Amino acid sequence: MSAPDLLNLEGVTVTFGGGIHKAPFVALEDLSLSIPTGAPEIIAVAGESGSGKTTLGRVILGLTKPVRGRVAFDGADIWATGAVHSRGYLRSVQAVFQDPFSVFNPFYPVEHLLRAPLKMFGIARGRAEQDERITTALRQVGLKPEQVVGRYPHQLSGGQRQRIVVARALMLRPRLIVADEPVSMIDASLRANVLENLRALRDEHGISILYITHDLATARQVSNRLYVLYRGRAVEIGAAGDVIGAPKHPYTQLLMSSIPRPDPDAPWPAEHVRKGEIGTSDRAACVFLDRCPHRMPICAKQPPDFMLGDGRAVSCYLYSDGRSETAAA
Ligand SMILES: Nc1ncnc2c1ncn2[C@@H]1O[C@H](COP(=O)(O)OP(=O)(O)OP(=O)(O)O)[C@@H](O)[C@H]1O
Ligand SMILES: [Mg+2]
Repeated sequence: MSAPDLLNLEGVTVTFGGGIHKAPFVALEDLSLSIPTGAPEIIAVAGESGSGKTTLGRVILGLTKPVRGRVAFDGADIWATGAVHSRGYLRSVQAVFQDPFSVFNPFYPVEHLLRAPLKMFGIARGRAEQDERITTALRQVGLKPEQVVGRYPHQLSGGQRQRIVVARALMLRPRLIVADEPVSMIDASLRANVLENLRALRDEHGISILYITHDLATARQVSNRLYVLYRGRAVEIGAAGDVIGAPKHPYTQLLMSSIPRPDPDAPWPAEHVRKGEIGTSDRAACVFLDRCPHRMPICAKQPPDFMLGDGRAVSCYLYSDGRSETAAA
């Protein structure tokens, strides 16, 4: 029998609000995703603001409970078994690369930030063992322990702060990391650093990563797979290089064509694309209907995922001919 997936999301739907007279707002709809055990990978999630990226990250971290669908870790439904509330889950699935300015309490030195989780999870017994773990983790991310442990967050550079967040994650030996990168972090000087950290976590430490980004260049360089979200739906999924190099879904194509120069390294061009009437359209129809240049009568019905030969899944009827569907519409 093969090992269960590390993570398996099946038909996950998240809604907010709603009431007697008001339909709930759909932030994530029928999303499926799996990461196998023993083959760490980086899965990039891209899409314009409000498309549901952070919501997906929160579902994986166990902070948001889906209204429908299943979230399984090591084959077990985390909500049905209660695993989501366990320390084991908290430790196995970590969030990093949140804005390093907001995760640090300015009143504590770096040493405190690193020692606290060791105590919380009962990882190291005595102070000496804690010190050793802290020192090792800092060296692993290329920092000199003696230069940073006594410092306060404001005394560190953005890159150093980011490395400390990574060091903290490494000490806990998570199996999965959710890296939600805010737009403000897309700074050329930090980009190389982010890439280097993501790769090292995967290749040297065997940790899988859900990398949420607006930056297609980094997504293409480090990720194994790319999920393009639009209004809560994964409209296109595939190998990052393939999707960016030859986008199939009209939404992904629109994003590519709206890059002023055909430069694949250009950042996600959200500002060039007219914002849709997010949340107000009929969800029985294709989510991209009102902006699609190829719309057809059949698009009044939400398209299923059509599987293309190269492992690509596209939620669009343009690809219905002679292709297999993953699910009945
Ligand atoms: N707690 C909440 N209550 C109500 N609506 C919410 C809540 N959290 C998120 N939303 C809505 O769900 C949608 C998706 O939000 P989400 O934060 O996942 O977007 P995102 O893709 O991460 O956007 P960004 O790129 O701006 O970070 C948005 O329209 C947002 O306003
Ligand atoms: Mg977000």
